[in-house]
Amino acid sequence: MLKPFLKAFNSTDKNKYALTDIRFRATDGKILEVDNGFSKLDSKEVAAWRKRFNARLCSNKLLDRSGVWRYREFLPWARPFDTVVTMPEGNTPIFNMPRSAAYCGMKALLCKHQGLNPTGSFKDNGMTAAVTQAQKLGAKMVACASTGNTSASMAAYAARAGIKSVVFIPDGQIAYGKLSQSLDYGAITIQINGDFDKAMSIVQEVCERGNIYLLNSINPFRIEGQKTIMVEMLHQLDWAAPDWVIVPGGNLGNSGSFGKAFDEMIQLGFIKKLPRIAVVQASGANPLYKSFIDKNTVLTPVQAHTRATAIKIGNPVSFDKALFAVKLTNGIVEQVSETEIALAKSRIGVDGVGCEPASATTVAGCKKLIERGTIKPENTVVCILTGNLLKDPDYTVEFHQDYLFAEADRSVTLTGTGKINTGGFANKPVKLEADADVILEYLLKNRS
Ligand code: F0G
Repeated sequence: MLKPFLKAFNSTDKNKYALTDIRFRATDGKILEVDNGFSKLDSKEVAAWRKRFNARLCSNKLLDRSGVWRYREFLPWARPFDTVVTMPEGNTPIFNMPRSAAYCGMKALLCKHQGLNPTGSFKDNGMTAAVTQAQKLGAKMVACASTGNTSASMAAYAARAGIKSVVFIPDGQIAYGKLSQSLDYGAITIQINGDFDKAMSIVQEVCERGNIYLLNSINPFRIEGQKTIMVEMLHQLDWAAPDWVIVPGGNLGNSGSFGKAFDEMIQLGFIKKLPRIAVVQASGANPLYKSFIDKNTVLTPVQAHTRATAIKIGNPVSFDKALFAVKLTNGIVEQVSETEIALAKSRIGVDGVGCEPASATTVAGCKKLIERGTIKPENTVVCILTGNLLKDPDYTVEFHQDYLFAEADRSVTLTGTGKINTGGFANKPVKLEADADVILEYLLKNRS
């Protein structure tokens, strides 16, 4: 195994950069990634790694309890692992989802719920790795632009590491649950008058000029942590790859990290069959989908619109990496409407699981791909639910009260345009007199 270094992704720049270089792009502007220098393992070594991962499931050491660092052989750059900042994260369950499966027209459907991480989203898997690196580099301040989950996660992990953090968020465009987190974890929270894409461009300039360590998914160490979501998933499935993994697409770091996970597992000879990756975007924030359909490998940014605010992104940083992931796995990119997202989210809810709107693009996308015949009803499919239901309660309550709007005006309650048809799935709260007879009469009428 070679010593890890940074190299440019999909680039003409063949330079190697030291892990301690604080840079995110190569000379030609392409994003860097960690080259872990993996070489093929023989079958005995593969068996030994798997045995070690199993043994760590019975350990009480914090490093072993983490669903990221349990797989630390995949993160050799972080050796000797004695300064790792962990909550511990990962360990997210894979649920069997019978009602969502029926909704999609499938025999069975699995959902891996990354929203059950310490700060309620998949960002924790990446942030443990990137904040560990920030600490190794002696960073005094870390920053990110965010639609809410990255900022919540960064604020928490930076606080755990004793590093000051600053978040840039689009004013009025992130869910309150997420805003409350970065405030509570002590981050300097800057609300800018612009969208996520604007915040992303400003944070890069501020970090460069202010010597602040950037923790968006342009940071290659974030990707390193996030790739273990796929390692943990395969471990949970006893290393039997599903036919499909479906993931929401926003800034596209997650999709890219899954591609890196599978690429490295192939280099190592760790698995033989690859799942196919389906990236699903909201139709109002669909630059990857558009490029995929047009067979265009160059990103054309869009002006993003969606109530799934987590993925309201028109100029995704990890576009190239996501395209690579789709190509590597013979995958696909799909888009879903606001109504499709809302209805799918309600079905994930009645499975007793729930998620935030962006996560529901996966089940919505699955239904669409089944209808198209791309996914077969008997296929094994794992949808990645990226965020917790409680992140964006407004959306859920508005849906169930039957006043969810595609374009909501948050300054005036209950108004907006493009009312979403809840298709009989809204579970309206009822107001009844505080009288047992009245309540019982109502319940008897509504037993089934
Ligand atoms: N789902 C949720 C809940 C998210 O928060 C995000 C991204 C995505 C999906 C899309 O993942 O960017 O890797 O393609 N949220 C970012 C943030 C952008 O700032 O919290 P991606």
